[in-house]
Amino acid sequence: MTDSNQTQPAPQSLPPRLAMTVPRFVRAKQRGEKLAVLTGYDHLWASILDDAGLDAILVGDSLGMVVQGKASTLPVTLDEIIYHAEMVCRAVKHALVIVDLPFMTFHVSPEDAIRNAGRIMKETGAAAVKLEGGVNQAETIRRLTAAGIPVMAHAGMQPQSMNKYGGMHRIQRDREQLLNDAKAVTEAGAFGIVLELIPREIAKVITETISIPTIGIGAGPDCDGQVLVTPDMLGLTAGFNPKYLKRFANLRSQAQQAVQEYVRDVRAGTFPDAEHSH
Ligand code: KIV
Repeated sequence: MTDSNQTQPAPQSLPPRLAMTVPRFVRAKQRGEKLAVLTGYDHLWASILDDAGLDAILVGDSLGMVVQGKASTLPVTLDEIIYHAEMVCRAVKHALVIVDLPFMTFHVSPEDAIRNAGRIMKETGAAAVKLEGGVNQAETIRRLTAAGIPVMAHAGMQPQSMNKYGGMHRIQRDREQLLNDAKAVTEAGAFGIVLELIPREIAKVITETISIPTIGIGAGPDCDGQVLVTPDMLGLTAGFNPKYLKRFANLRSQAQQAVQEYVRDVRAGTFPDAEHSH
């Protein structure tokens, strides 16, 4: 715990805002309001993200890589995503919390998808789930939506299909397929769609064609909103530098400097000093 005399001044507070809901999220597109989304994986960071004014927090299966240190998102389990989503939901007061359906939790059958997504909704308090897929998942999206589970789709590069692509960061350029995916998930009842790693011109056409918000990551500026992986955009992760990624801070080196200073002070016997002793 930090003493109150050591805390940094809070960033300028935001005007009061309404809690985000799925209908408000969809209306933002109709109003021409851009949507800001980031990933969140635990209570501490979710409270920071929510207080900073995000529209939605995605409990992404990217946690397999950035939190668990695994080589891909494939090993993430339903129990693990529920564990993280529950922590996030407990912190969030305003943002819409959307939770990824991990690999193989929605592919076997729509019934299996409903059972697994239902567990996420019941055990975490999240408002929606996300699944990777387009035309191939339209029936599952229809069934989930009919069961009262709002679904965000995810087209373009789909990390759970990395073995099919032969790698993770492959730009997807099949315009017809991408448009068909976007139209199919819209018709099936999805309330939004992530477009990952696709040319900006295709993202623009999709955004102008469908009625639900497009949330881009590596899909250019014309999407209705943007999402990034939080540890990447805060500069906490190292060695991942795709063209689309803007690092808005360099927290890894700031944290390392602080820890190095602490190590120096402890070894030199200058911490704790009189000011920090009872
Ligand atoms: O898992 C994740 O973090 C995601 C985002 C990159 C969209 O799916």
